[in-house]
Amino acid sequence: MNKLMTISLAILAAFLFACGGGSEKKSENLEEQATTKMEETAMVPDSTSLVIEANDQMQFSTDELKVTEGQVVTLTLKHTGKMAKESMGHNWVLLKAGTDIAVFGTAAVTAPDNEYIPEDKASQVIANTKVVGGGEETSITFTAPKAGYYKFICSFPGHWGVMQGTFTSSPR
Ligand code: CO
Repeated sequence: MNKLMTISLAILAAFLFACGGGSEKKSENLEEQATTKMEETAMVPDSTSLVIEANDQMQFSTDELKVTEGQVVTLTLKHTGKMAKESMGHNWVLLKAGTDIAVFGTAAVTAPDNEYIPEDKASQVIANTKVVGGGEETSITFTAPKAGYYKFICSFPGHWGVMQGTFTSSPR
């Protein structure tokens, strides 16, 4: 074997090695990316926490809350105002799909002793907090309903018309 041929073979070997190594590394990366993506898709947390505030101006801090179906949801309602529970109380009530919130809200007036949840309409409630006054907060834990759009309201007398929003439960 002459010197030129030896050098040529050496260069060829180096070239093949570089190419081979390169393409192998690339496919490994793609595989890694695919695996990461699959894990992300499957990794919906089992639980989630939501915070919603309510104030002395009869307002919720958001009219949109989002979860994934089946999640264990811990919701905290914070009354950031100063007014008393008797005059500016707030609760958070999540209603089943199809509930007429005007009918529910109107009936709630009759239930001051039951956190403004009318007993004959309790079956329309998925979850609710107690009523809180200024400076107070309260939490509840419940399982997110099946995927769909739901309504939440404050059922304190006269509040449901403005204190309402959409609770979205996404499919897994
Ligand atoms: Co209210």
